[in-house]
Parts: sequence; C-alpha cells; structure tokens
Amino acid sequence: MQILTTAAGLQAYTEQARQAGKRVGLVPTMGALHDGHLQLVQAARTDCDEVIVSIFVNPTQFNNAEDFRLYPRVPEADAVLLEPVGCTALFVPSVPEVYPQPAVLRFDFGPLEQVMEGAHRPGHFNGVATVVSKLFHLARPHRAYFGQKDWQQVTVIRQLVADLSFDLEIVTCPTIREPDGLAMSSRNRRLEPVARAAAPLLHQVLQAAAAEVRQGVSPSEVMATAEAALRREPLITPEYFEIADAQTLQPLVDYAAGRDVVLCIAAHLGGVRLIDNLVIAG
Ligand code: PAJ
Repeated sequence: MQILTTAAGLQAYTEQARQAGKRVGLVPTMGALHDGHLQLVQAARTDCDEVIVSIFVNPTQFNNAEDFRLYPRVPEADAVLLEPVGCTALFVPSVPEVYPQPAVLRFDFGPLEQVMEGAHRPGHFNGVATVVSKLFHLARPHRAYFGQKDWQQVTVIRQLVADLSFDLEIVTCPTIREPDGLAMSSRNRRLEPVARAAAPLLHQVLQAAAAEVRQGVSPSEVMATAEAALRREPLITPEYFEIADAQTLQPLVDYAAGRDVVLCIAAHLGGVRLIDNLVIAG
C-alpha cells in the first residue's frame, strides 16, 4: 500500500493508473476506521483495480470547534486495517496541502440542505462539497464510494456530481451496525459506557417507526410515537427526528405511491452527537 501525503502525489499516482487502463475507486473518509468504512473499501476492491482511501479530518465541515478538536485520530491503526482489505493507496494530506488558501467558493444545495444536518449544522455541506470536489479533481476516480449511514450527505454529493458534471459514478453501500443495532461511527469511540448502553435505542426507534410507516400510520403519528419513546431515555437528547422523501429530503405530510421514505434521527448522548437513518421502499 502506497502512502501519499501530497495533492501532486495523488494526482500523479492516479494519472499513471488511468494511463495503464486501470479502474480507479475512491473512498473518502475522516479516519478512525471501522467496518462501515472497510466495507466501502471492499466494495471498491471488487469493482476497481486501484482503491484510493483518503483520511482527512476536514476542518471546513465542522461547525463546532470542540467536535473538530475531539474527533478521533488514529492514523497508524487505520493504516493497519486498510492494507488487508485491498486499499492500494492511502492519501493522508495535511490541512495546508488540501487548503493552500482558504476556499472562497460557497456551495448552496437549496432545499436539500435546508433540512436535517444542513439546517442543524450550518456550513456543513459546504465543507463536505468543497473537500469532496477537491478529492474528485485530484484523484479523478471512475467510482467513489459512500455510506447510506449519511443519507443526506450522499444525496448532496449526487447533486454535486450531476450539477458539476463530474465524470464518475457514485456507489452507495448499506449501513453497517454493531450486533445491538447501533450504526457504526467513529464518534462511538467517545461514548461513555452508560451512553453506549443507551445508544441502540436510536436504531430501535427507527425500526419501530419504519414498521408503522409500512402499515400506513400517518407521518405525524409516527413522529409523535418516536419522540415519546426517545423522551423516556434521559441519557438521549434528540435533535431531530424526520420522516422525509428519500430523494428530495423534504418532510412528508403524507406518503406517495412509489416514493421511497427515509427516517432520519440525530441525537446527543453525553456530549456525543450521533445520526442514523432507515430507508423504506415506496
Ligand atoms: P466519515 O464519517 O469518516 O465517513 C466516511 C464514509 O464512510 C462516508 O461515506 C460514510 O457514510 C461511511 N460510513 C460511516 N459509517 C458507516 C456505517 N456504519 N456503515 C456504512 N458506511 C458508513 O463522511 C465523512 O467521513 C466525511 O463527511 C467525508 C465524506 C469523508 C468528507 O470529509
């Protein structure tokens, strides 16, 4: 596995691979890797000849300085995990390497970012779109891999690719969970044991709500039940629970035949902010 630390090094590496007729896959991450990340690498490995994984804790997507400071950083352990699952090159740049000057361009994804993560973390998707655009330009992958875990993120990135005509395919991989249902997340490492014990409730509430959606219970009733269940757990402070159209991300008043529904949740557990979602086929 090659370790690349410069933008020029990444460009040269992938350019050579393309010249040799190889298919290039890109897996952007912020590190502190877990099985959710590793399945993206494995998916890339089955589709592509070169698998580039980037690890970069991107300052521009954090709207909370403390969250950025406390974000787990374990580069050596990450590198050990990547080689056996088929990563061929690991891109670990410094902040000045990615941002030689502060980015001035601002992305506005309209209604897609006026809800959920976009509404609660102002500027978050601008930072994500900025860094992902840079990675796409530098690596010029044939395919890029993202997790369903961040449903709004992958929806925004699909919009980015369409609007800016990036010549690549976005692949979405399912959410990988712990045996008790908690969605794997780098932030789970920061949960105190009591908060960790309470955390599976997020997925349980999503599952119960999904069952109600499938039975045709109205969105307002489903939300009321979910919010009541969350209120019963004092260690969880919900930030939002949304029932939305899976493509437009707009909140649903009622269901429409043939349209997928996404249930999204964000909550704080002892100072750690977690998100999760479930998609229900329409
Ligand atoms: P990060 O949170 O490290 O996630 C990297 C990728 O792994 C994302 O596509 C995310 O959706 C996916 N992922 C995380 N947990 C997952 C799980 N439990 N199951 C499946 N996939 C999972 O998302 C980011 O980094 C950043 O915003 C990034 C796109 C790298 C831009 O900085």
